Amino acid sequence: MSAQAGSGMLRLGMVGGGAGSQIGESHRIAARLDGRWQLVAGALDIDPARGAAFARSLGLPEDRSYSDWRAMLAGERDRPDRVEAVTVCTPNRTHAEIARAFLEAGFHVLCEKPLATTVADASALVRLAAQRQRALAVMYGYTGYPQVRQMREMVRGGAIGRVRVVRIEFAHGGHARAVEAESPGTAWRYDPEIAGPSGVLADAGIHGLHMASWVTGLDVTGVSATFDSFISGRRIEDNALVTLRYAGGAVGHIWASGIAIGHRHGLRLALYGETGSLLWEQENPNRLIHGRLDDTTEILERDAPGALAWSRASSRVSGGHSEGYFVAFANLYRDLADAIAAPGGDPGERLATLGVPDGREGVASLAVIEAAVASARRQGAWVAPTPID
Ligand SMILES: NC(=O)c1ccc[n+]([C@@H]2O[C@H](COP(=O)([O-])OP(=O)(O)OC[C@H]3O[C@@H](n4cnc5c(N)ncnc54)[C@H](O)[C@@H]3O)[C@@H](O)[C@H]2O)c1
Repeated sequence: MSAQAGSGMLRLGMVGGGAGSQIGESHRIAARLDGRWQLVAGALDIDPARGAAFARSLGLPEDRSYSDWRAMLAGERDRPDRVEAVTVCTPNRTHAEIARAFLEAGFHVLCEKPLATTVADASALVRLAAQRQRALAVMYGYTGYPQVRQMREMVRGGAIGRVRVVRIEFAHGGHARAVEAESPGTAWRYDPEIAGPSGVLADAGIHGLHMASWVTGLDVTGVSATFDSFISGRRIEDNALVTLRYAGGAVGHIWASGIAIGHRHGLRLALYGETGSLLWEQENPNRLIHGRLDDTTEILERDAPGALAWSRASSRVSGGHSEGYFVAFANLYRDLADAIAAPGGDPGERLATLGVPDGREGVASLAVIEAAVASARRQGAWVAPTPID
């Protein structure tokens, strides 16, 4: 791989996402898919030697394979061919510090969720990105699925009327026994010093919380939460049940869990409005189920009659093929490239126009998590998410 990105390609750097990490490879595949990005630099691993070996296996140039993110910042900052954007794929606690340093130096940042471990840190990142006029995107990758984008277009176009009830589930069974004993990638998820004050709600549930607001345009105004840790030794929750109130009067519920035996991944979103309902399940992502007031039910397939323009534009292959996860992530990378490559203006502002989850949305979903943590500590008392400044 050449250090120089191909003509028209944007140069990408990556922090974290090393060999065996859960999410690094998804980013690399997604970034490659449309030929808009070339990974040219990285500080891929907390262990420099392992990171260097992995960078070599990926074909990164030796002089752009860095021992840690500070060395990467120093090495990239003054290069004429420096990376345009940095993807942050490290465990949660490090996100804010790394994102802040690269934004301050004028790089665009695509950060993994949660954007930070506190609303205050995440809000500071949003302010910094706005000052520097840089894109700050958050990898809520499921928003890239064609039929999730279809869902948003339909809801905002009035297909189900005013939303009354929101049902979110992100309940998987992967942590139903003490897997952290043999998996460092799981262990940090139950360590509040690294993960933050919430376990599975911030790890998995945050996707569903964000998606529901991203689709409906409704902010959460109140939460009442019950957190439990069913596996002994866990200091933060592996099961969360949260009742939600939304602006405009809608009510909702999220079940986020790591102990839902039998659920492989377990993300689903159902919306019930005045004139219809919509259901999307990530394990069957090409289908959106539309219930109507007249008792008819329609299955809206990706790339089929009824598919809206944004859904069609978010697909790469004709209907019937099992397109899914990588394309969803790739849609965010493609849109981020569009936001950055367009001349003039503020690329950060363009993210929202393109539907790419941005820092402000990262703050909003984190505010719901923080409110849920506070509520759970007070036996489910209603707590309002901190307003965003
Ligand atoms: N968007 C999604 O769907 C999704 C899915 C999984 C994980 N995530 C998020 O991605 C992040 C990483 O999660 P994961 O499951 O890949 O974790 P992981 O533990 O599997 O991998 C983390 C990687 O980061 C490296 N690392 C840790 N600290 C580092 C540092 N200071 N500098 C450089 N590299 C460092 C580790 O060596 C490892 O390669 C988390 O914030 C997680 O919440 C998002």
